[in-house]
Amino acid sequence: MQIQWYPGHMTKAKRAMQEDIKLIDLVIELVDARAPLSSRNPDIDELGRQKARLILLNKADLADENCNRQWSQRFQEQGYHVLKVNARSGAGFKAINDTVAQACKEKIERDRRRGILNRPVRAMVVGIPNVGKSTFINSFAKKAAAKTGNKPGVTRGNQWIRLNKNLELLDTPGILWPKFEDQEIGLKLALIGSVKDDILNMEELAAELVKLLHGLYPHVLEERYGFSAPEEEPWKALEEIAKVRKCLAKGGAYDTEKAAAMLLDDFRSGKLGRITLEVPE
Ligand code: G4P
Repeated sequence: MQIQWYPGHMTKAKRAMQEDIKLIDLVIELVDARAPLSSRNPDIDELGRQKARLILLNKADLADENCNRQWSQRFQEQGYHVLKVNARSGAGFKAINDTVAQACKEKIERDRRRGILNRPVRAMVVGIPNVGKSTFINSFAKKAAAKTGNKPGVTRGNQWIRLNKNLELLDTPGILWPKFEDQEIGLKLALIGSVKDDILNMEELAAELVKLLHGLYPHVLEERYGFSAPEEEPWKALEEIAKVRKCLAKGGAYDTEKAAAMLLDDFRSGKLGRITLEVPE
């Protein structure tokens, strides 16, 4: 399956990010916990070098808890600070302030040595489309404001959101471009909903999901749809779903297209359970 999606505005986004990164101390990189590697763009390591780094495994509520732990450990071994969060509910936010202080320890101490007191850490949120950047910024700003009893203060021409006396956030996230050269990566991004569905063949995509699930979570389809036997053959699995869920096309044939959309929706919304599509090697 070929997935092509190279938006032309990415060059512009990269240039904007290069400028914004000069203003900050800390890069808060959001990845999708269901595919933490595919939803990263390693170019951020080059762009964000010499900055403190925090990776947020977002949508941790949809991902396999065991894999969340493994990925946290893997990224920590690679030198990043890591937290798992749910940007929608705010789960995991409590630890952010302490982790930011740890990640920026050197900067804070350097400031102190120079007699600069109370200069907040400045951070920006980055990530590929749909990882939850806007949700995170909005809900983190709200939580921080509720805690301090203030509205998030905005300084410098609407650019900075003051979350508390120690942390300011750029109000617009940096958009990273996904790595589509690798078809495996493109496939996982399509599955987690980072590629617009209207350019995809949903049946082919659902068939690829069946194949992946068969290797990673062999009983999950059986549990959800009640097949009599787990289906290894992706197209047959779609027919089974159509049968069980009574997806019928005109003339009474099984509507595998509808079944495919249903399967993808069940996966993306967590109805199949907490699933991670890639594990650390
Ligand atoms: P972006 O700025 O990085 O492009 O992503 P955005 O915040 O728009 O989030 C993309 C989708 O992911 C949104 O759903 C959002 O609610 C959802 N989302 C973000 N963080 C989390 C999380 O931690 N857990 C879960 N389960 N979902 C999360 P949507 O369907 O596009 O919109 P809506 O239904 O929330 O309106």
